[in-house]
Amino acid sequence: MTYAVELLNITKDFPGIRANDNVTVRLKEGTIHALLGENGAGKSTLMSILFGLYQPTSGHIKVNGQEVKINDPNDATALGIGMVHQHFKLIECFTVTENIILGMEPTKYGMVDVKRAAKEIAELSKKFGLNVDPYAKISDITVGMQQRVEILKMLYRNANILIFDEPTAVLTPQEIEDLMQIMRRLVSEGKSILLITHKLKEIKEVADECSVLRRGKYIGTVDVASTTEKEMAEMMVGREVNFKIEKEEKEAGQVVLDVQHLNVKNAKGVLGLKDFSLQVRAGEIVGIAGIDGNGQTELAHALSGLAKAESGTILLNGEDITKATVRQRFDKGMGHIPEDRHKHGLILDFTLKENMIIHEYDRAPYCKGTMIQQKEMDRYAQHLIDEFDVRSGEGIDSLTRSMSGGNQQKAIIAREIDRSPDLLMVVQPTRGLDVGAIEYIHKRIVEERDKGKAVLLISFELDEILGLSDQIVVLFDGHRNGSMKASETNENELGLYMSGSKKGSEQHEE
Ligand SMILES: Nc1ncnc2c1ncn2[C@@H]1O[C@H](COP(=O)(O)OP(=O)(O)OP(=O)(O)O)[C@@H](O)[C@H]1O
Ligand SMILES: [Mg+2]
Repeated sequence: MTYAVELLNITKDFPGIRANDNVTVRLKEGTIHALLGENGAGKSTLMSILFGLYQPTSGHIKVNGQEVKINDPNDATALGIGMVHQHFKLIECFTVTENIILGMEPTKYGMVDVKRAAKEIAELSKKFGLNVDPYAKISDITVGMQQRVEILKMLYRNANILIFDEPTAVLTPQEIEDLMQIMRRLVSEGKSILLITHKLKEIKEVADECSVLRRGKYIGTVDVASTTEKEMAEMMVGREVNFKIEKEEKEAGQVVLDVQHLNVKNAKGVLGLKDFSLQVRAGEIVGIAGIDGNGQTELAHALSGLAKAESGTILLNGEDITKATVRQRFDKGMGHIPEDRHKHGLILDFTLKENMIIHEYDRAPYCKGTMIQQKEMDRYAQHLIDEFDVRSGEGIDSLTRSMSGGNQQKAIIAREIDRSPDLLMVVQPTRGLDVGAIEYIHKRIVEERDKGKAVLLISFELDEILGLSDQIVVLFDGHRNGSMKASETNENELGLYMSGSKKGSEQHEE
């Protein structure tokens, strides 16, 4: 058997934590090898070592049978290794081509030869079925397309060993299907792939083998075809996982959130949300179903105060908050788990504990006069990370930037849920979480509902919408297109409303 990559007895220490503990993973040539593990298990760390971003504390690496030393990403590139990171590394105001050639610009008479590069990129794009416009600006293309740019970046550098760190966490179901196709295509062209994902369905669909990590340790490698999703999940968390959301019927109470005829512009200055009305009651979870880009971001931003409403009203507990600031909305009882954890959820250069009191740092008990009350802050942050199992090297003193993606997400969820706001707005709450963490977070969201809180869930995952919601409202092209009880619909029917093939009653009323 020829191996494209052998990671042998890799150990990596960070302050306070052994992120990889004697891990051995072998990637067979021309195959897809999945890495599975809980949030913080050490998956990204292991891949970053292979890509030369970190040096292992001990252990060695072989590429195509040869022992190698990978000092930095340039070494990795020279060895034919490429990586698509968990959080993309693209320059928004550059074009696709400019991003791809960055650092290895081809020149002609001393000038960068963008034309030649663009042509080459167009050819690569065609060969692998990527369908990318070399001249498009990054800020103008979808997340799915941006990811393809990252893929092209690897291909342009002739990479044969491709690392994907949670590539599907940010994609819509259709984009995920496309990516699976692309991966198969890459493998059929002789590439070898290491794939990190929390979604067992995806592993079943494309991977040949799967290696499992738990708290830095190597648990084992299985042949995917002969292993069930349930078996893999158990291997990963060390216990049985309940995939079904437990929830009882409940009577909803008073209206907490009342949205009337809301119009909101999108980033390009045109209406992204049109004449949208919605009510969420106490003790009820309302799920917003829809394909990404149909007004969800505009809705979430207008409700949380990140964007302004062109017209329409937003009432929270009967009070008009249409023009209130973000801070005022929080104070009046809104909680928000944002879609983009880095942009709107955390200050990455603050510690975990500082991020945990970010709404309340200026008031008792966290502030006295002008002084932060360290003890109170520590106590509260410790309570949150214990309760929500937020894992990191240095506990509450960890820099949030150094934490694993899933644990950053869990920290935001902990902060927002623990305040038990009257209206909890959660956008893609379980993005990047492992199956065990998803089970727990879903349980906590249902508990909030049972306490009589109103929950607004915006998610692209139909399983999550169907499993968690009491009521579902479909967003299509910025409009409300259909609403129904979650118990009386299914994936197929929702799909019809979401694609606009079926019109909701709202549309006929107009
Ligand atoms: N640069 C760093 N400095 C300090 N600690 C780090 C650093 N990078 C990772 N860690 C720690 O190493 C551990 C493993 O992190 P890693 O990002 O590899 O996890 P992961 O398996 O990718 O998790 P997730 O599924 O949440 O992405 C975590 O506890 C994290 O806090
Ligand atoms: Mg990771």
